[in-house]
Amino acid sequence: MTADEIRERFLAFFQRKGHTVVASSSLLPDNDPTLLFTNAGMNQFKATFLGQERRAYTRAVSSQKCVRAGGKHNDLENVGRTARHHTFFEMLGNFSFGDYFKAEAIPLAWEFVTGELGLPLERLLVTVYAEDNEAYAIWHEKLGLPAERIIRIATSDNFWSMGPTGPCGPCSEIFYDHGDHIPGGPPGSPDQDGDRFVEIWNLVFMQFDRAADGTMTPLPRPCIDTGAGLERLAVVMQGRTNNYDSDLFQPLMRAAATLTGHPVAPPASGGASAWSKETVSLQVIADHVRAAGFLIADGVLPSNEGRGYVLRRIMRRAMRHGRLLGMEEPFLHRLVPVLVERMGTIFPELKARRAAIEAVIENEERRFVLTLGSGMKLLDGAMINLSAGDRLDGEVVFTLYDTYGFPVDLTADILRDRGIELDMEGFEARMARQKAMARAAWAGSGDEGVAAVYHEILADGGPVDFVGHDQESASGRIRALVRGKERVLTLATGEEGSVICDVTPFYGESGGQTGDTGVITVGESRASVTDCRRPIPELIVHAARVESGSLHVGDAVHLAVDGARRQATRWHHSATHLLHLALRQVLGEHVKQAGSLVGPERLRFDFAHFQALTSDEIERVEGLVNGWILANEAGVTEVMSPEEAVAQGATALFGEKYGDRVRVVRLGPSMELCGGTHVTRTGDIGLMRIVSEAAVAAGVRRIEAVCGAAARTSFQSDAQLLRKIASLLKLPPGEALTGVEKLLARRAELERELEKSKAALAGSTVDELFGQAREKNGVRYLVARVNDVDAKGLREMADRLRDKLGSGALFLGLPEEGKVSLLAGVTKDLTGRIKAGDWMGAVAPKVGGKGGGRPDMAMGGGTRPEALNEALAFATAWIEERIG
Ligand code: ALA
Repeated sequence: MTADEIRERFLAFFQRKGHTVVASSSLLPDNDPTLLFTNAGMNQFKATFLGQERRAYTRAVSSQKCVRAGGKHNDLENVGRTARHHTFFEMLGNFSFGDYFKAEAIPLAWEFVTGELGLPLERLLVTVYAEDNEAYAIWHEKLGLPAERIIRIATSDNFWSMGPTGPCGPCSEIFYDHGDHIPGGPPGSPDQDGDRFVEIWNLVFMQFDRAADGTMTPLPRPCIDTGAGLERLAVVMQGRTNNYDSDLFQPLMRAAATLTGHPVAPPASGGASAWSKETVSLQVIADHVRAAGFLIADGVLPSNEGRGYVLRRIMRRAMRHGRLLGMEEPFLHRLVPVLVERMGTIFPELKARRAAIEAVIENEERRFVLTLGSGMKLLDGAMINLSAGDRLDGEVVFTLYDTYGFPVDLTADILRDRGIELDMEGFEARMARQKAMARAAWAGSGDEGVAAVYHEILADGGPVDFVGHDQESASGRIRALVRGKERVLTLATGEEGSVICDVTPFYGESGGQTGDTGVITVGESRASVTDCRRPIPELIVHAARVESGSLHVGDAVHLAVDGARRQATRWHHSATHLLHLALRQVLGEHVKQAGSLVGPERLRFDFAHFQALTSDEIERVEGLVNGWILANEAGVTEVMSPEEAVAQGATALFGEKYGDRVRVVRLGPSMELCGGTHVTRTGDIGLMRIVSEAAVAAGVRRIEAVCGAAARTSFQSDAQLLRKIASLLKLPPGEALTGVEKLLARRAELERELEKSKAALAGSTVDELFGQAREKNGVRYLVARVNDVDAKGLREMADRLRDKLGSGALFLGLPEEGKVSLLAGVTKDLTGRIKAGDWMGAVAPKVGGKGGGRPDMAMGGGTRPEALNEALAFATAWIEERIG
């Protein structure tokens, strides 16, 4: 039975039993900060288990994509070395949300396993949680399982929870016995970690919600969560013992073997200890390319933290195993087509994102290939003096990590076979030193002193009231003045300092939007605000210069923002939201904002993407944004809780901290959490033009664009340029392109003609030189000085002269700036008597150089062009003597 059939039969079986088929959710858990990756079928139902969310059904069935690498359920280090662990796998599951419980769930599982799949009783064992007499009774009395086939387990192995917090409960598991030729013991025995007894089904009786402090609150209604690993069921149904021998992995194993030039080991029998090193490496590669492919398809990109770092660790582990198989060049991406072929029908996202998956993997491979080899050399050197039981110096672990990009678990993985451990304390200490040094560098910047002053001002009067979303001027009172790093009471004419008021319409730089400028006035006194910042998020600080009069703490002031500048900033900020959405629509959901800068003159937007945008993509993005601008939809801003905002579909920046109230900005179809200032209708933006697209770091692109009047100016200056070009060509602008094409064609033609004239000229030079040839005793010879050719021309000339001579010898000298090139040639029939190499050897010293070569052809040179005539006279004497 193929894996695809098992998946299909599982879904159909539970559908017949009243379950609704629910599609797999993404590997990136939706809005659940407790989870790194989706790690079980129940994840997408978490809120339903907790009673926070109601669904239209109370029974569900799914086949869920899962990744267990990093986080609570982490199998990364075992992968490839056991028959049953994977980073990526599919979990079949049936779920009851307060509907049926143990009495129905256990028989349903049994019916599927023994009925649909037909697995024989003598191969099956079950476990129950030690105190769960109820489950025991269902297995034993209701289903008639003999007591020796039911094992009571008291450890956490039989208590399942999704993460440190969340729904959890005791389990009952079904195990399959692969037979005594595979090492391993039954569950609960000391050898339970072997591959002989494999858990194929986990029934979780969801009863509690675990809080961070460990308290268990009973769920509103008990639920059922089950999980059956598709890869494990497949291998059982296909009569093998190693998951990698199932039809889910074989195409990848075979492709990896062919690619690396290793025969695939025959389906491994006898268990993991019998596998060759090559088999383990092929298995690692087959597993990891699946995980990488599926993660990238769901929008993860390699990076140095969080999910992206786990992806990077998985890929680098695969690359290192590739190297063990002799692959020094990128290869992993070449397995992607095989993955797509095998899984792309069930998971169409693989097909849709295939090009991206290949590009991201290849890119990562190219990066790591550069350091993998030198890192391995360093590590090999460090290992020479170590043997089993020793520890590798933390300093080396750190260098490998910091300089060569070896994730720590990769280093551990390499040393594992030799029984060497890592000096983790040494590594941590080195890491802490590194961080302290970085901090110290920052501390020296001089910002600490003034930061303390700002904290004091905040503590004195609380947050500044920002009223600039709705107005561009306001009345306020000066709370504090700072000059240098000191609080002062007055700023006099000509002085610069910071002004902090109780209320302000000035936007302090944040979220990428630059700060406002404008004026602060009180009576006849006037200060210009050159910038506005938020050194602490709640404190808005105006950088000001007093132009006339003076400012005093306590003054009632009028604050007015430069409206034109603010308006231009609004265009660019609102356009940034539209641009972000357009990029996601054109390039894919993996496009994540990585930085942005919004000012009155332009916008700059950095985002995660692995390759340059094509001009077609740029045009599509620009087209979408300008379409939304033309639609002239109203911009709407609402304040709500972050949860509400995300539930409504607002784009929040991953890793960004939001307060308990957030602003949600809707502009056309876009919706983002944002504190910036925006246009009232999209049409206010006028026009957006992308002016550049480039890379800023590996995997990060930068777009710069201009809006409104700036966009108009940009188009105008291009139009002007075109008009200038056209007027130079004396053509109407519409014909400038054809005009330039014609000019280029004409230039190519002229160049060809020039080449021809040069060749003709060279021909006549050759003829002229040939006329200087002399003859003595039946041997023709020519010694000449040539001008105005390069080294290549000299050789060509010599060839042509030799052809003309038919039989003879020639010696040419070419003076150049501060040097001389020499060439001697002798036709083959004469090399018995005259050797070009000897001739050259004799003459070259006369121009301060040396030379030599074959009997028929020799090159040489020297540094004394002034001695060339003398040298040539010597060359004539030399040849005449030889033939005389
Ligand atoms: N959620 C349970 C597991 O992952 C079924 O094993």
